[in-house]
Amino acid sequence: MCAQPSTLVGGFFVPPPISQETRVLTHRIGIIGGDGIGPEVIAEGLKVIDAAGVSLETVDYDLGGSRYGRDGTVLPDEVLEEWRDLDALYLGAVGTPEVPPGVIERGLLLKMRFALDLYVNLRPFVYPADDIDFRVVRENTEGTYAGEGGFMRRGTPFEIATQGSVNTRHGVERAVRYSFELAMTRRKHLTLVHKTNVLTFAGDLWERTFNEVAAEYPEVETAYNHVDAACIYFVQSPQQYDVIVTDNLFGDILTDLGGAVSGGIGLASSANLNPDRTGPSMFEPVHGSAPDIAGQGIANPKAAILSGAMMLDFLGESDAAARVEAACADPSTEVEGTKAIGDAVAALVA
Ligand code: IPM
Ligand code: MN
Repeated sequence: MCAQPSTLVGGFFVPPPISQETRVLTHRIGIIGGDGIGPEVIAEGLKVIDAAGVSLETVDYDLGGSRYGRDGTVLPDEVLEEWRDLDALYLGAVGTPEVPPGVIERGLLLKMRFALDLYVNLRPFVYPADDIDFRVVRENTEGTYAGEGGFMRRGTPFEIATQGSVNTRHGVERAVRYSFELAMTRRKHLTLVHKTNVLTFAGDLWERTFNEVAAEYPEVETAYNHVDAACIYFVQSPQQYDVIVTDNLFGDILTDLGGAVSGGIGLASSANLNPDRTGPSMFEPVHGSAPDIAGQGIANPKAAILSGAMMLDFLGESDAAARVEAACADPSTEVEGTKAIGDAVAALVA
């Protein structure tokens, strides 16, 4: 945590902080452009942050599917250790069609979420044209993502595969508490989404925890939806939501749907937060690497730009964050082309 010697990381020379004062003023950010459209959209996000007048000291990390294809590297422990000293991570998208499923997802994204204790995955959905303005708090370290399970007799007709859902009181409670606190800063309405009628063990733990914490927040009105019903409400009446808290897998699925009903996945931003700030938080668009449109300059960078705004907000640059958000919603930024959109947003935040 103290001043470090100069380091050579990912091919970029990173000078050490000059003085204590510099450290306070400059945010040190790890950049993982990743694969496909990832680097293109992150470049626009960095352009906008610069135009907003926030100076970042960036360290580039060449990670993702194409790096894996070149030398088998996914996420070395030394890199993870280096990240602990950063203020945040800004990621485009990782994954290439050639890499088998799970290698990058578990080896990079989930390893990062678990090791840095990024226990809240916060995904905002704002679409003024339809009066949509809600946040999903997705528990980000447990559930079916935990990796519990395995095979028996794999490849035989009697094969067994299990993939359990891990739910701890501690893990559920911290996501629920974060959500009540968030609701207190907004319209004071919080909905628990689960499947308590079928997942009677995990659902019971979630529901009990939710109700116990709710007693500490009498001002917050609460609701409960089964996840299948929530899918209907997302399409028919998403205006009813303010804050939603849910389990990891339900949150994964619901937030793609949330993007689809609020302007498209091209606008969906996210923050993988360590709210206790015991390590850096990570900010990334919800969309993937979209290899089919990579390199054509046509990807919408707004999800990445808005994820950058979430990063600014978390770093204490709330004024710049608000300007970036407002610029993304301005009709003058509804233009074609990755760079043109980035330029239009940058012109407004300056
Ligand atoms: C997301 C993605 C990831 C997830 C994958 C790529 C591991 O779909 O961030 O929503 O399932 O969490
Ligand atoms: Mn997803």
